[in-house]
Amino acid sequence: MAVVVPPGLEAQRALGPRWATWLDGLPRLAADVLDEWGLTIDADDGTPRHGFCSLVLPVLTDDGVPAALKLHLPDEESEHEALALQRWGGDGAVRLLRADPRRFLLLLERLHPTDLRDHWDLEACEIVAGLYGRLHVAAPPQLRPLTGYVERWTEGLAALPRDAPVPHRLVEQAVGLGRSFAADDASTGRMIHGDLHYENVLAADREPWLAIDPKPVNGDPHYEVAPLLWNRWDELAHDVRGGVRRRFETVVDAAGLDEDRARDWVVVRMMHNALWELEDAERRPLDRDYLTMCVTLAKAVQE
Ligand SMILES: Nc1ncnc2c1ncn2[C@@H]1O[C@H](COP(=O)(O)OP(=O)(O)OP(=O)(O)O)[C@@H](O)[C@H]1O
Ligand SMILES: [Mg+2]
Repeated sequence: MAVVVPPGLEAQRALGPRWATWLDGLPRLAADVLDEWGLTIDADDGTPRHGFCSLVLPVLTDDGVPAALKLHLPDEESEHEALALQRWGGDGAVRLLRADPRRFLLLLERLHPTDLRDHWDLEACEIVAGLYGRLHVAAPPQLRPLTGYVERWTEGLAALPRDAPVPHRLVEQAVGLGRSFAADDASTGRMIHGDLHYENVLAADREPWLAIDPKPVNGDPHYEVAPLLWNRWDELAHDVRGGVRRRFETVVDAAGLDEDRARDWVVVRMMHNALWELEDAERRPLDRDYLTMCVTLAKAVQE
């Protein structure tokens, strides 16, 4: 059966030539790996799924086991996805059945389509925080240190002009915090998921919930919290400050994190997100709502 790229993923072609090349080669790559690994498309499991930068095909192995074949856009962030899944060995995360990291191919245990988007947000935060302890294992040596990234992004923030459309006080605060995190031994040592939000936790049979889709780095567990605050943002509209604080406190309590350290990382991460938005706005219109969200969130955890 020929693999057709879903329209939502096909639309990523607009993001540039790197994406177009990957999308052009995707049906062929999928056909090749199905053949090489003895997989067949599982027609009973509906259509292919996709995220921002990957195609996920429901497949059956040659002995009839349901699995999911993930074909990812080659990029630095996902380079060590297989390594992380292997290291976890299915403990708190989807089990890796086979991988070809060079071609960014993963064969995964098949999980259910249900993720944590429709759960009450505080319950979802508690579930995700409950996975931290199992996911935050000693970092394998291949992983890049979080501190290297933080140094680079902090210097990006420091170079912003004073009249950039974000409060300068917050920029200065994030620069100060970023520099001290970059120099702090506690900012590395643990493998962190890197992108642990509501859509990257799926329902399963062998456990209620398992993490998928890691972008692992050698980092600090306190770095992990922010995506639970900025995702499902629209639901907080009636009480942004209260809603953010309740989520933050739920995660900190459930995971036993140091509150101040977790808060400081949220401030730093939100200002990094703001920086990337400002950089992207050199090529397209600025998303003011997104920028406002970054600033509001960085303030809300501190009030
Ligand atoms: N093991 C699995 N079993 C069933 N469905 C899966 C599995 N892994 C992924 N999926 C489905 O495919 C979608 C995309 O997968 P995933 O989140 O791993 O990649 P992604 O979101 O494209 O990655 P990125 O966050 O880098 O854009 C998921 O939201 C989920 O619906
Ligand atoms: Mg995902």
